[in-house]
Amino acid sequence: MVTRTRADEMYARARLTIAGGVSSDARRAAGTPLFVDHARGAELWDVDGNRIVDYVLGQGPNLLGHAAPVVAEAVSAQVTRGVAYAAQHALEHVVAERLCAMVPGAELVRFNTVGSEAVHAALRLARGYTGRRKVVKFEGHYHGWFDTVLYSVHPPLDAAGAAARPATVPGSAGLTPGAGDELVVLPFNDLEAVRTYVTAHADEVAAVICEPLLCNSGVISPLPGFLAGLREVCTETGALLIFDEIITGFRLAAGGAQEFFGVTPDLAAFGKAMAGGMQVSALAGRAEFMAAIADGRVAHAGTFNSQPVAMAAAAAVLEVLDEKRDQIYPPLHATGRSLMDGIRAAAEKHGVPVLVTGPGALFQVYVTESPEVNDYRAFASTDRAAMQRLHELLLDRGIYTVPRGLWFLSTEHTAAHVEETLTAVDSAFAELSR
Ligand SMILES: Cc1ncc(COP(=O)(O)O)c(C=O)c1O
Repeated sequence: MVTRTRADEMYARARLTIAGGVSSDARRAAGTPLFVDHARGAELWDVDGNRIVDYVLGQGPNLLGHAAPVVAEAVSAQVTRGVAYAAQHALEHVVAERLCAMVPGAELVRFNTVGSEAVHAALRLARGYTGRRKVVKFEGHYHGWFDTVLYSVHPPLDAAGAAARPATVPGSAGLTPGAGDELVVLPFNDLEAVRTYVTAHADEVAAVICEPLLCNSGVISPLPGFLAGLREVCTETGALLIFDEIITGFRLAAGGAQEFFGVTPDLAAFGKAMAGGMQVSALAGRAEFMAAIADGRVAHAGTFNSQPVAMAAAAAVLEVLDEKRDQIYPPLHATGRSLMDGIRAAAEKHGVPVLVTGPGALFQVYVTESPEVNDYRAFASTDRAAMQRLHELLLDRGIYTVPRGLWFLSTEHTAAHVEETLTAVDSAFAELSR
């Protein structure tokens, strides 16, 4: 078992000057959070010298592993040429051209720094283009931490209202009064609910936004026909269909979820995996809609947008993902699926009721008796305390997963990592079942 003496000391020190001792709420932990010394490939080392197999990967970005040579070289080459121009440069159109070639629905792009900004831009553009006010989002979907969308992500069930017509539950104190008034929360995977609402309010609904593969409340696939149905309803009513591909982009396939599921949205937000851990996000969409940004009707700005060091990383990463897609995506999913199979087998051996879902490149381990989880309410009814406990038992055994049961894979996870992980999983389930 691992010791974390230095981490405990650092956490105590950090709390004196950093609110809560962490720089993002997602990094809060039940006890001392992980303090990283350095990371390489699929592994990281904490400040106490423990080596850890990493399935968090910076919450997704490190698809090519930590400190990927292709990223390190691109960043090093650019860093001495200037890091912040706030002016045009060649890497911008190199990345834009590549992204538009890879992603089915991308005809024009604008860059930002983080995912929340790209989503924010998408929602403003949808409202600005259509002149309508309302946005439909789904319960359990996370679209960043800005006031326009931080509603009904993980609402307590006793405050969440009727399953068929969920309440719009704020995710924080202090949101702009009324920010959620134009947000309509509907249950994921219920096409009829969407069709009924959007058709009845066709002159009001600017957009329907979703995580095309829900990754923030379990890993929940769209039911057959759901995304195509959203596409149809949006086309019929003139609402824009927005895919939040901050997690799925460049992870499910070179062309993101829109390639993976074969449904093309009007706008999409990308981030995380597109720059190998550097900070770039993008709003990408059809030229007809992006024209409202191009001609200045809809404002879009940012000092650090298309910052050249991050763009150098994005150019290098997207080139690899595009040109080596056949060597990257099938093994990435296959490695994940072999882990998923091993986790199911270990759970069965120890009598732990477990459901494992996802395409492979990322997946979710639920502790539940339920044979399927298709929406937020079903996710919220799984044994989340046991999932948190499993995360802690695994971390004690040198395996780092997202506490809510999510696992991210990288191209650097090998068969040896899988074997090592499954040994730890076996031991963790043995303890969990006691
Ligand atoms: C689906 C989705 N959208 C948006 C965001 C926000 O991205 P960022 O944290 O880079 O602002 C996240 C972050 O995890 C996400 O998972």
